[in-house]
Amino acid sequence: MKISVIGTGYVGLVTGVCLTEVGHEVTCIDIDEKKVKSMREGISPIYEPGLDEMMKANIERQRLFFTSSYEEGMEGKEVVFIAVGTPQSKDGSADLTYLNKACKSIAQNMKRDLIVVTKSTVPVGTNEHVEQEITKHITNGFKVKVASNPEFLREGSAIYDTFNGDRIVIGAEEEAVLDKVRSIYESFNLPIVSTDLRSAEMIKYASNAFLATKISFINELGNLCEKLGANIENVSAGMGMDQRIGNKFLQAGVGYGGSCFPKDTNALLSIGKSYGHDMPIIQSVIDTNEKQQRIIVDKIKEYSPDLLNKKVAVLGLAFKPNTDDMRDAPSIKVVRELVDAGAEVHAYDPIASENARIFLPGSTVYNSSVDEAIEDADFAVIMTDWKEIKEYELQKFTKLLKNPVLFDGRNCYNLQEVAQYGLSYYSIGRPTVGMN
Ligand code: UDX
Repeated sequence: MKISVIGTGYVGLVTGVCLTEVGHEVTCIDIDEKKVKSMREGISPIYEPGLDEMMKANIERQRLFFTSSYEEGMEGKEVVFIAVGTPQSKDGSADLTYLNKACKSIAQNMKRDLIVVTKSTVPVGTNEHVEQEITKHITNGFKVKVASNPEFLREGSAIYDTFNGDRIVIGAEEEAVLDKVRSIYESFNLPIVSTDLRSAEMIKYASNAFLATKISFINELGNLCEKLGANIENVSAGMGMDQRIGNKFLQAGVGYGGSCFPKDTNALLSIGKSYGHDMPIIQSVIDTNEKQQRIIVDKIKEYSPDLLNKKVAVLGLAFKPNTDDMRDAPSIKVVRELVDAGAEVHAYDPIASENARIFLPGSTVYNSSVDEAIEDADFAVIMTDWKEIKEYELQKFTKLLKNPVLFDGRNCYNLQEVAQYGLSYYSIGRPTVGMN
C-alpha cells in the first residue's frame, strides 16, 4: 500500500520504517528540512538499535522516502498516518497545535478520498476532531475518514516491539475503514483489537497509566520494605508469579521517566478534570513518582548531610538504558539537588550526555567512562541500569572511589556480592549493606 507518515519523531519514524520493511511504500513528511536531508541519507535523528540499518535497506529498495513537502509526500497515497508530537501543556493537557497544523496541511493537499490514521497519543475524542478539522479545510469535495491506531513501543526496543507487540489496536466508526487499516498490518501476524474510535484512544492512556501504577505501587511497597527489613525483589518475584498480577513492571527503582508515562498520566488526569471526574488513583501514582524520583537524594543527605565540595559520581543519566532520551529522567532532579547542595557532579552515560547538557546544571562534568567518573569521588550514585554499569566490576568501586560508598537507584547488584567487596551499598527497597 502507498502510505504517508506525518512527523518523524520517535513514533513516526519507527512506524514508517517498519511499514516499508513489510513491503509498503512510505513517504515520511517532516517540516524540518535539515532532518529530512539527513534521513534521506539513511541517518536517523534518534538513537534506536537497528533503525539506521533498516532505514538504509528500505531507502535502497526504493520503498522509503522523505520530504518536507506535503504535496510531494501525499502524492498517490491512500492512507496518511499522523504521528506528530502532542507535548504536555502547562495545565497537563495535551497540546494539539502540531496536530491541527497537520490536519490543515492534509486538507490543502488532498487529491483523492483519504483515510487518516492517528498514531499520536491524543485525548479521547480527538479523532473526531481530526475528521472535522480536515473536512473544514477541504475545498475540492474529497472525503476523509479517520482511524485511531495508538502505538505501544518502548524506546530502545521499538523495532522489536513493532513486530512482536502483544496487540495492534485499531479504532474506527466504519467497518470499511477498519478493514483497510487492518490490511496494512496483515503480514505482522499479531492479534488485532478492532474497536470504536474513543475506546481505541482510551486503551492507550489506560495501558500507560496502568503500567505507571504498577511502578508507583511497587516503589511504595519497596520504601516500606526498607523499613521492615524485607527485600522488594523477593516480594516482586513472589507477587509476579501470580499470573493475574504478572511479573513485568514490578521493578522498584528511582521512578519512571521518559516521554510517555509522565505526560500520559497527567493528560489522563486533565481529561478527567475536563469532565468533572476525579481520578485519585492516577493522582497518587503521579505524586508517588515525583517523590520517588528524588528518594535517593534523601538517602545521600542522611549519609552525608554536608555535600559542599563533595565529588559525586552519577552513573547513567538517560531515563532508562538503551536510549539517549533525557525527557523526565529521574537523574535531572537528583543532579540538580546535589549541585544545589554544593556537590561537584561528575556524570557518565554511554550515550545521553549530549542531550543531558540541556537539562543538567552547567557545572556538571561529563566523563567518558565509569572509571573516570568514580575515580577519587566521595561516593557514586547509579541512576540508569545500563548493561555496562550492571556488569561493572565491583572491586573497581572499592579501588577507585575515595570512600567505597554506592547508592544504587536501579538495584543493579546482588547484595551478597556487594558485601564481599566491602562496599557500603544502599539500593531501593532492599536491606542496606555495610552502612551504619
Ligand atoms: C512506555 C511504554 O512501555 C510503551 O508501551 C508506550 O508506548 C510508551 O511508554 P518507554 O517510555 O519507552 O515506553 O519506556 P518503558 O520501558 O516502559 O519504561 C518507562 C519508565 O519506567 C522508565 O523510566 C523505566 O526505568 C521505568 N520502569 C519500568 C521502572 O521503574 N520499573 C519497571 O519495572 C519498569
